[in-house]
Amino acid sequence: MTGHAADSDILLQLDGVSMQYGRGETAITALAGVDLSVSRGELVAVMGASGSGKSTLLTVAGGLTPPTSGEVVVEGHWLSQLSARELATLRRRSLGFVFQDFNLIPSLTALENVSLPLELDGWTSKKAHRPALDALTIVELGDRAGHFPSDLSGGQQQRVAIARAVVGGRSLILADEPTGALDSTTGELVLRMLRSRVDAGAGAGGILVTHDARHAAWADRIVFLRDGRIVDESRASAVSSLLAGLQA
Ligand SMILES: Nc1ncnc2c1ncn2[C@@H]1O[C@H](COP(=O)(O)OP(=O)(O)O)[C@@H](O)[C@H]1O
Ligand SMILES: [Mg+2]
Repeated sequence: MTGHAADSDILLQLDGVSMQYGRGETAITALAGVDLSVSRGELVAVMGASGSGKSTLLTVAGGLTPPTSGEVVVEGHWLSQLSARELATLRRRSLGFVFQDFNLIPSLTALENVSLPLELDGWTSKKAHRPALDALTIVELGDRAGHFPSDLSGGQQQRVAIARAVVGGRSLILADEPTGALDSTTGELVLRMLRSRVDAGAGAGGILVTHDARHAAWADRIVFLRDGRIVDESRASAVSSLLAGLQA
């Protein structure tokens, strides 16, 4: 792979990233010149109204779609310079997505769901089971490894999805409204797991898209998107104090 930066603390960098869907009069500008970086050990929350570009930001950051212009750099790799095969490898080894609706495969057990990314990367299922079980243990579901998604609560399913997103040491976690389908207590638990994963000191970091300011307060920094632009940024501690003030 090209463009490897020496021991950088920056996990993800977006430089002037714009994204347009379609062309001509019906073109939609989903992102317009976004600059954003995420360091190792850092969780960044992205907030904004529906349609402001949050999901597009994650899709582009995760190399699922190339931006119309601008540059995405993941762990020192300029995505635009990678071949399709290199990009697929980088996605499998460095990136983990967590979606609102969990996206677990119903016919696979929790352990098999978490093993899957490793098996897709060529690991035998036997070899993949150990790190998969470790990842499940981190989200406190080691004792549910043999359960199918339908036997797990929503919060447990989402924790399986987090385990799947980080298994095998993948470092950049991109979570798109991961608490959207959960009640707020369960949502908090899922965020605590995400937070502790980023704090674990293994060099991970992530972006958390959320509508809920209480959930965003779990992040180190909150970025607000409007019409595809970052319009404001604040430290999460500021939001926590604000919320505490409102609840007092
Ligand atoms: N695949 C797509 N094709 C065309 N327009 C899209 C596509 N995905 C998103 N959009 C448009 O881009 C804008 C940003 O969407 P999105 O990134 O999904 O925002 P959010 O996640 O904040 O709701 C919206 O106007 C949306 O309709
Ligand atoms: Mg969205």
